[in-house]
Amino acid sequence: MKILVVGGGGREHALVWALAKSPKADKLYCAPGNGGIAALAECVPIAATAVEEMVSWTKDHAIDFVVVAPDDPLALGMVDAMESAGIPAFGPRKNAAIIEASKVFSKSLMTKYHIPTARYQSFTELGPALSYIRSQGAPIVVKADGLALGKGVIVAQTTEEAERAVHSMMEDGRFGPAGAHVVIEECMTGPEVTVLAFADGKHLVPMPCSRDHKRIYDGDRGPNTGGMGAISPAPGYTPEIAARCQKEIFLPTMEALNAEGRPFQGVIYFGLMLTSDGPKVVEYNARFGDPECQAVLSLLESDLLDILLACRNGTLDQADIRWKNGASCCLVLASGGYPGSYQKGYPISGLSEAGETSVVFHAGTARNADGSIVSNGGRVLGVTVTGATLDEAIDGAYAAAAHISFTGMQFRKDIGKTV
Ligand code: AMP
Ligand code: GLY
Repeated sequence: MKILVVGGGGREHALVWALAKSPKADKLYCAPGNGGIAALAECVPIAATAVEEMVSWTKDHAIDFVVVAPDDPLALGMVDAMESAGIPAFGPRKNAAIIEASKVFSKSLMTKYHIPTARYQSFTELGPALSYIRSQGAPIVVKADGLALGKGVIVAQTTEEAERAVHSMMEDGRFGPAGAHVVIEECMTGPEVTVLAFADGKHLVPMPCSRDHKRIYDGDRGPNTGGMGAISPAPGYTPEIAARCQKEIFLPTMEALNAEGRPFQGVIYFGLMLTSDGPKVVEYNARFGDPECQAVLSLLESDLLDILLACRNGTLDQADIRWKNGASCCLVLASGGYPGSYQKGYPISGLSEAGETSVVFHAGTARNADGSIVSNGGRVLGVTVTGATLDEAIDGAYAAAAHISFTGMQFRKDIGKTV
């Protein structure tokens, strides 16, 4: 089969790496890809959001299966566009991807179907939003409705901070149209866990749980990022909690989407908080998380292509889905200045030494004409190691990363050590 993966980050490198192991994958393409992906797939210079161009390239190259990995093309309806052109594609259609693209939609879905989540109200006008904040007090959470690169959530410790967040979203247009509608919700507390689940519209199979680390600095301080590292499984997610999540959250979500005429085929990302009141949904995403994908797929033993095809064909109940015992850790190496502004183009050394004991997924790199690899994004690399225990995986990731350097490189020292 000829397969195209849409996207160009660490998640897509992990997907291409796993798909490359399938005996059915004769030829892999990735659009736009990156410097590391280029070693496994032919990179195609089309932006992940260029839906029409992507569809026509796919038709011209007789691609058999397209895997749409990032949130933006899913929200734009790339899967719908591929299928209208007769090309089988993995990922939810636009009307199901809305569980990530609109927090107002996902919150009202959870309320309607009694899926546990933080208490909330949504607003399109400033005055009532401010009054609600004052009536609820702090801490309180303010969220822009739409996609905002993971930056549209403010966990405010004071009502003043929450009011400023609402002003910047609704008056100053900080997140553009994504912030015209805001959700204001109760601040929950407890350990956070991510569960990614394969879904085919009728069946849902959770993967091993994981945990990412969203803040830039150690001790969960500083601004949010796309994710500075991930571990799998996450300690504390017991079989009892997993069973409860399946019954109270995962299956009800799939059934709710079906009842609304929005069957979900793809990967549902459940961002959960294990509160004293039981597990609750923090957020849904309509795709693999990044970097959770790198940690979780490192543990997959069976053929990823067969599983993704089963999601598309509604045969997930018959799919062979097996995982390694043990644990994994993905440590992100980022550019200096990230998540603010940063420089690109710095040569990266030590990749082959690190590669002897780890899999180094490339998130933001480019390959020069001479084959050398340079930094080309905020998150640059994800050094990923599996081990018999979580500590072994974490220590292995740090030991491998010690070989790598580039100007300004920064990373967290406490991946897997905080909740
Ligand atoms: P999100 O992009 O919705 O995952 O939010 C980013 C981060 O903000 C989450 O990973 C949580 O750490 C935090 N967060 C979001 N909603 C809440 C909430 N209702 N209570 C406490 N923390 C939250
Ligand atoms: N790591 C969080 C996300 O992919 O949304």
